[in-house]
Amino acid sequence: MRLNLVLSSVTASLLSTFVSAGSDSTVAGADKDGKYWIHGTGISAAFIPYGASISNLLINDQYGIQRDIVGGFDNASYYGIDRQHPHFGSVPGRYANRIKNSSFELDGVTYHVLPNENPTPANPAGVDTLHGGPDGWDWRNFTVVSYTNNSITFSIVDPDGKEGFPGEVVSYITYTLGNMTWDIKMVAIATTKKTPIMLSSHTYWNLDGFANNETQTIFNHTFYMPHSGQRVGVDNILIPTGDILANKQGSVNDFWSAPKQIGHSFSDPEIKGNCGFNCAGYDTCWLVNREQDGPYDWRSEGGFVARLQSAWSGIQLDVYSDQEAFQMYSCNGMNGSMTLKSTQGLHGNADFPRTIPQYGCVVLEVEDWIDAINQPEWQRSKKQIYEPGGDPYVLQASYKFSINTTATSS
Ligand SMILES: *[C@@H]1O[C@H](CO)[C@@H](O)[C@H](O)[C@H]1NC(C)=O
Ligand SMILES: *[C@@H]1O[C@H](CO)[C@@H](O)[C@H](O)[C@H]1NC(C)=O
Ligand SMILES: *[C@@H]1O[C@H](CO)[C@@H](O)[C@H](O)[C@H]1NC(C)=O
Ligand SMILES: *[C@@H]1O[C@H](CO)[C@@H](O)[C@H](O)[C@H]1NC(C)=O
Ligand SMILES: *[C@@H]1O[C@H](CO)[C@@H](O)[C@H](O)[C@H]1NC(C)=O
Ligand SMILES: *[C@@H]1O[C@H](CO)[C@@H](O)[C@H](O)[C@H]1NC(C)=O
Ligand SMILES: *[C@@H]1O[C@H](CO)[C@@H](O)[C@H](O)[C@H]1NC(C)=O
Ligand SMILES: *[C@@H]1O[C@H](CO)[C@@H](O)[C@H](O)[C@H]1NC(C)=O
Ligand SMILES: *[C@@H]1O[C@H](CO)[C@@H](O)[C@H](O)[C@H]1NC(C)=O
Repeated sequence: MRLNLVLSSVTASLLSTFVSAGSDSTVAGADKDGKYWIHGTGISAAFIPYGASISNLLINDQYGIQRDIVGGFDNASYYGIDRQHPHFGSVPGRYANRIKNSSFELDGVTYHVLPNENPTPANPAGVDTLHGGPDGWDWRNFTVVSYTNNSITFSIVDPDGKEGFPGEVVSYITYTLGNMTWDIKMVAIATTKKTPIMLSSHTYWNLDGFANNETQTIFNHTFYMPHSGQRVGVDNILIPTGDILANKQGSVNDFWSAPKQIGHSFSDPEIKGNCGFNCAGYDTCWLVNREQDGPYDWRSEGGFVARLQSAWSGIQLDVYSDQEAFQMYSCNGMNGSMTLKSTQGLHGNADFPRTIPQYGCVVLEVEDWIDAINQPEWQRSKKQIYEPGGDPYVLQASYKFSINTTATSS
């Protein structure tokens, strides 16, 4: 295998500490829809090679009814056909979120990567790069390198120069299910040149399995980020300005002082333009100041960086992560053109079409500070720039599910 040729033995042994060895020969491959199912206690999930994406996540609600709480398509083959490409459940890479002016400087050299967002007459392909470019990682099929009953590992080899990024990057993405938990481990290694790396998991959630018979939106989902009193300031196309802003108590972006329903601040005039030009909602990168608040071990009980709850289903998701930023996107750009999976929604109810409306979902992204490669004064190069022989890029997260019927009602 090519990997063995490019990886030094040191890098390979580093990798082996992150990647679970071997496959379980009693486990079959993909099902007829091209999905790889894994199972834990009280939880099952399906993954696909396209973007190393999560495609289904099944847990029971407070009434014991099974809910599929992530957005996606019914079969793996459709992911590459759909032209809207919402990055459903994928791993954006090699650099998640936006890169200002599709360029960055490294050791005095300016690199230009392919633009793919905000086209103008002068720049018909766009003026910035979103999620790694027009053929970023989540437009490609990863390789399944390990598959057991409760775990799957995908790999990708991203060639030197692809989308304009310097050097080859080799990455492993491992998903494991436990007792009502979904664990994520991402490792990436720069094998030939110094390069930026920042990954994330771009999963669309609706904790009601898109089957809430009172509302199709996530306005009544409660959201809480106890360590996030600050956020990254952005311009009107969501490019960081370099400024770190305060989320004043009671303001639209305050989810730290107390849990609050996502819809709570939509009557506040400041919600308009909060997600860019002509946009009401959230597509915001909050800082995670867990180090100053403690607990200092990201896995510690109660040390979650974000909590999402729905009183309707009773499902609660606590996100634990070793990353120092967190993005929440309130599906401002959805407009009913994405179809639900057969496992979701209400069947035969004209008032609740089987599509995702605006604000019908919420994307949660564990990540580092966005576009820090263009903000040297943030001093994050150790978290974002990788080189051969150096430390690997590592992202770890644990999504813990529970039933909690007392979610806040405002
Ligand atoms: C896979 O795991 C599930 C849940 O723990 C269990 O019910 C099932 O029997 C396991 N299947 C195999 C083949 O081990
Ligand atoms: C795959 O899913 C898409 C979207 O739901 C559907 O249009 C298509 O017919 C399906 N294809 C197969 C082969 O099942
Ligand atoms: C990716 O995999 C899907 C099935 O999972 C397949 O339909 C598609 O053709 C593959 N795409 C490429 C570019 O290999
Ligand atoms: C943006 O990049 C272009 C080259 O692609 C360069 O000519 C221009 O100066 C850059 N603009 C800014 C504001 O950095
Ligand atoms: C799963 O966790 C619950 C509570 O967190 C515990 O009561 C139960 O015994 C655990 N089940 C297994 C199979 O470990
Ligand atoms: C709405 O869904 C809940 C939970 O599944 C159920 O108890 C209730 O009967 C439903 N109401 C209607 C009007 O369908
Ligand atoms: C649901 O959210 C809407 C919009 O924010 C709000 O008016 C309503 O009171 C909420 N309903 C419940 C039951 O919390
Ligand atoms: C809905 O959004 C999709 C994807 O952004 C776009 O292609 C489509 O034209 C939009 N439809 C309407 C009715 O606005
Ligand atoms: C259940 O939700 C409420 C309201 O957000 C919260 O105060 C409480 O700590 C949660 N319980 C657990 C066990 O997470």
